[in-house]
Amino acid sequence: MPAEPVLVIHGGAWAMPDSVVEAHLRGVRNALAAGWRVLGNGGSALDAVEEAVVVMEDDEIFDAGRGSFLNRDGRVQLDALIMDGATLRAGGVGCVEHLRNPVRAARKILSESPHVYFVGEGAERFAVEHGIKLCRNEELVIPREVQRLQEFQACGIDKDSADLFAATISHDTVGAVALDSAGNLASATSTGGTLNKAPGRLGDSSLIGCGCYADNKSAAASTTGWGEPMMKLVLAKWAADRVLSGSLPEWAAAEAISYLESRVNGHGGIILLDARGQFGIAHNAPRMAWAVRTMEREEAGVERVK
Ligand code: GLY
Repeated sequence: MPAEPVLVIHGGAWAMPDSVVEAHLRGVRNALAAGWRVLGNGGSALDAVEEAVVVMEDDEIFDAGRGSFLNRDGRVQLDALIMDGATLRAGGVGCVEHLRNPVRAARKILSESPHVYFVGEGAERFAVEHGIKLCRNEELVIPREVQRLQEFQACGIDKDSADLFAATISHDTVGAVALDSAGNLASATSTGGTLNKAPGRLGDSSLIGCGCYADNKSAAASTTGWGEPMMKLVLAKWAADRVLSGSLPEWAAAEAISYLESRVNGHGGIILLDARGQFGIAHNAPRMAWAVRTMEREEAGVERVK
C-alpha cells in the first residue's frame, strides 16, 4: 500500500554528558540525511536503513564500526542485523573483527544467502566472497577507546559485576527504522557491544527480535542500551507484538522500556515504527540521541520525546 516515507534513527542511550551532545546530534542528523536521500527518492526502506547505519558506523563518536568499545583483549568485535519487514528476510553478523561496515555484510546475507546469521571468521569469509574488503582490527581501534579501556581496567571493577553495565557507561549502539513509499518497513542495528566485554560475547543488537525486528504486519524496531536484559525479554519483538495487538507505537515503545526496567532492571532505548507511519521513541537512560524525518517534519534530540 502506498505510504508517506518515515525514517527514525537512534545513536545510543546513556548518561550522555553535555560535552558530547553536539557530536551525537551531528551524527544522527548525518545518518538521517543519508537515509532520507534514499527514501525521499522513492528508494526502499531496506536501502535507507543500511545507508543510515553505515554513516553511523563510519562516525567515531558511536559504538559501532571504527571507534567502538574495545573488548577485554583490546580488540574491536562488531555485531549487526538488518531485517526486511515485507519478506521477514534478515541478515546478521556477530563477533566480526575485520569489517568496517558490518551492516553491509549483514545486507549481503539478507539478499544473497539462504542463511540468516554468520559469526566470526565465517562471516568475514562470506563478506569477502561477496565483494566486501576486510580491514585490520587495528584500523577500527582509536586512541580514545584504548584510553577508555585502560582506565576502566585500572579502576578495578569486578569483571563479572553489573557495574559494567551502569547507565553512566556509554551505550552508543546505533540503529534505524524506515517506512518507504511502497509501504514496506525495515530496520537495522549495529554495535561494538559493551566496554571490556569478554571476547566472543554477543549482545542483543544482532539477534532477531532482541535488538532489531521488522514486520510489515506489526512494526520495525531497533534498540540500544545494555544488551543482556534486552535479550532476555526479546524486547524488539515484544514491542512489535504490542503494535500488532493494536497499540500505538508511541505507547508500545514506552511500555517496552518500562517492562525492561521493571522486569529485569535493564536500561536503554527503543525506536518503533508501524506501516502507517506512526512511531515511538522511548528510553529510560538519561539521554538518547535520536532523529526523525517525515514529509512534514525533521527533528533531532537527546532528551525524552514529549
Ligand atoms: N546493545 C548493545 C550490546 O549490549 O551489545
